[in-house]
Amino acid sequence: MEEYCCVLFTVACFISLLSVQSENSHAKSALTADGGWLSTRSSSIADEGPCTVEVRDQSLTYSQFIERYAYSRPVIIRGLTDNTKFQFQCSKNSLLQEFGDRMVRLSTANTYSYRKVDVPFLEFVEHLLRPQSLDMLGSDTLYFFGDNNFTEWRSLFQNYVPPAYALPGTSGAYSFGIAGPGTGVPFHWHGPGYSEVIYGRKLVPVPPEKAPNFHPNKTTLSWVVDTYPTLNQEDRPIECTIHPGEVLYFPDRWWHATLNLDTSVFISTFLG
Ligand SMILES: *[C@@H]1O[C@H](CO)[C@@H](O)[C@H](O)[C@H]1NC(C)=O
Ligand SMILES: *[C@@H]1O[C@H](CO)[C@@H](O)[C@H](O)[C@H]1NC(C)=O
Repeated sequence: MEEYCCVLFTVACFISLLSVQSENSHAKSALTADGGWLSTRSSSIADEGPCTVEVRDQSLTYSQFIERYAYSRPVIIRGLTDNTKFQFQCSKNSLLQEFGDRMVRLSTANTYSYRKVDVPFLEFVEHLLRPQSLDMLGSDTLYFFGDNNFTEWRSLFQNYVPPAYALPGTSGAYSFGIAGPGTGVPFHWHGPGYSEVIYGRKLVPVPPEKAPNFHPNKTTLSWVVDTYPTLNQEDRPIECTIHPGEVLYFPDRWWHATLNLDTSVFISTFLG
């Protein structure tokens, strides 16, 4: 097998899920914390794995960020942004109320996103937002991420606070999405940027010089369940589960994939 080394990021939102299960009497506040997006986890994936990505907090200075991470390695930064207001606006009820009749553009969840489908946001949430089954191909799975109409959704995006640490000479472009448990985007790469979870997901990045071994139409879920366990320890990706309140910075052209452990609401800021 071709030797490669890759990085696996896991993003999840278990806190509210656990609190609902263990404290029914607090279901109301837990639901509020969860924005009403709570759903069953994917039965095919284990809980959060180890976190082998560097994790820093807001004591990380901008010059430290530029020196150590911006051009060389991913990092998770805690407490860099406060998106409480945005998170509130991303609750299921408030998004449906404000945008239920707006169209969203879905893409097939394979590496090269072939097919696009436009549906009303309400229809997406009620009928298409569901757990990913293990045997389904990415090319047959519709995914809502990016392709956002910033004119129609301006009242939402204007409340998002992007991570303050930009790269010199770049400006940020947002991609917003919502997806069911077990869904994700298989290995791909693009320019540098941040990924922030409003509710969790899992990402799998790989250093740019070594492409991962994967089939572009298969899902991240099948890669994590079938391929990942067969890898030698030294070939395993570095990985971490990110949660609301954390941002993941990914450098330019790092291979990665994403896997949502739960129904997830997320936004990326691409620095171009
Ligand atoms: C975004 O929405 C506006 C207002 O409905 C519409 O005029 C425009 O064509 C849309 N843009 C795209 C790229 O679909
Ligand atoms: C992936 O799926 C697309 C769309 O169904 C198809 O055109 C393409 O040939 C497939 N790629 C591979 C490598 O099987």
